[in-house]
Amino acid sequence: MKVEVTGVQFDAIQTEVLIVGTFKHPENTKNWSELVSFYGSSLEKWLKAGDVSTDRKKLTKLPALQEGKLQRIIFVGLGDRKSLGQDELRDVFGLVGKELVGSKSTNVSIWLDSFTNDEIDIEDATYLAGEGIGMGIYQVPNYKTSSNSTDYHLDFIELVTNSDEKETLSYFELGQVYAEAVNEARSLVNMPSNVLTATKMAEYAKELADTYDFEYEELGKAEMEELGMGAILAVNQGSTEEPRLMVIKYRANDEWNDVVGLVGKGITYDTGGYSIKPKDGLVGMKGDMGGAAAVLGAMRIIGETRPNQNVIAVIASTDNMISGNAFKPDDVITSYSGKTIEILNTDAEGRLVLADSVTYAKQQGANYIVDVATLTGGVIVALGKDKTGALTNDETFFETFLEATVETGEFVWRLPLTESDKKRIRKSDVADLNNSPGRDGHMIFGGGFVGEFVENTPWIHLDIAGTSDASAAHDLGPKGGTGAMVRSLATLVERMSLEKEE
Ligand code: BES
Ligand code: MN
Ligand code: ZN
Repeated sequence: MKVEVTGVQFDAIQTEVLIVGTFKHPENTKNWSELVSFYGSSLEKWLKAGDVSTDRKKLTKLPALQEGKLQRIIFVGLGDRKSLGQDELRDVFGLVGKELVGSKSTNVSIWLDSFTNDEIDIEDATYLAGEGIGMGIYQVPNYKTSSNSTDYHLDFIELVTNSDEKETLSYFELGQVYAEAVNEARSLVNMPSNVLTATKMAEYAKELADTYDFEYEELGKAEMEELGMGAILAVNQGSTEEPRLMVIKYRANDEWNDVVGLVGKGITYDTGGYSIKPKDGLVGMKGDMGGAAAVLGAMRIIGETRPNQNVIAVIASTDNMISGNAFKPDDVITSYSGKTIEILNTDAEGRLVLADSVTYAKQQGANYIVDVATLTGGVIVALGKDKTGALTNDETFFETFLEATVETGEFVWRLPLTESDKKRIRKSDVADLNNSPGRDGHMIFGGGFVGEFVENTPWIHLDIAGTSDASAAHDLGPKGGTGAMVRSLATLVERMSLEKEE
């Protein structure tokens, strides 16, 4: 896609479609009268009558009346000037993206200055346009033999603004980088598990690493057996597909210290194993690798922006299947850490693969750990489908992360992890831990189990079982994979990098 910047000069618009932000009282927008002059006194009349709406998220299309290339102006209602925040504007741009797809507009001009207010300066608006539109135009890849719905591409964007050309381009492109990483993660989540096996995911990870000059290491079944990764191997036992542990290292500097570990759950399909899911619970379980997708998406952003922060990504991938070889409730397994685990529920498999991944990340030098996983239905019961649940053992680290989520607009809510919760995870007659203490508040048990392997390393657990997959279309994208936490993880790393420079 080509992006160009041109000054605010409406008779020189290069495309057929101009997007205009329209606050209540748009006459207070700079250069508004020049635009209005195209329509004589009519536009004011239409605005007054509500035929051109200024209501937030309402779009009005008008034909462009003047000579020239421009055919259409899309007035994008922004509502009250004072109450428009960054999150609202991101959503608005998401809707603009959807409108472009819907109308198959491949060339478009955006008057960026019209989207600013006291809180949102031109840099913010430019960034949010890149991010919001980039996310909004995403479509779920499909396998329809007669489909033309996903062959839409945005070819050219003209950014209309009186701001500096280079700065405008760099803010917009940064927004695009974030959006494209989110969209990549969405597509991984949307892929059926017969297509996205652990082996395929590892090929994807290797390619990503090659693209961005990351170090890459991959462990297969034989290596896991040699190392004694009994937890991930137990989950893989019932499968005919090989498991994979993917390890990506981004070295920001020569010394491998102060390393952030991003650990993702990459279950390509979760049947539940012998603790099998009811048939309605199976549908959607192709998305049980949303945590892995989030980590891979974040690494893509990191590869583009190259922050001053060492990062290691560890992703464990397998499906959770049933066969004569599968692990069973009552089994006792030995994890990579040496800790033994009594299996009470084979459907609590995510915490098992995360346990070995976290141990590996620590062993490879991670000084901070964030694990991301579609771990429990419990988080949906507790917080709904639009909030990511969190646990932490480090207030300062969590504070930095929360600031990152405020920036990205991804809602995260922390739940407690108490000593009595930990006691229940450690309760077993035959092993050090059990993998399923009960269903009461079980989001905490899922994350808390991972915490047993993190030990004293500053740690954040993110349960995205609700947020990774949208059950209906939303402003920033369609039903299906959301790319949850991609942007927040990358922004966390960015912030840690900036904190060091202060
Ligand atoms: N992958 C599921 C969690 C999940 C549920 C993700 C719904 C997305 C939507 C996880 O492996 C699981 O099965 N969790 C169990 C844990 C239980 C056995 C303690 C659950 O949530 O029921
Ligand atoms: Mn499960
Ligand atoms: Zn699962």
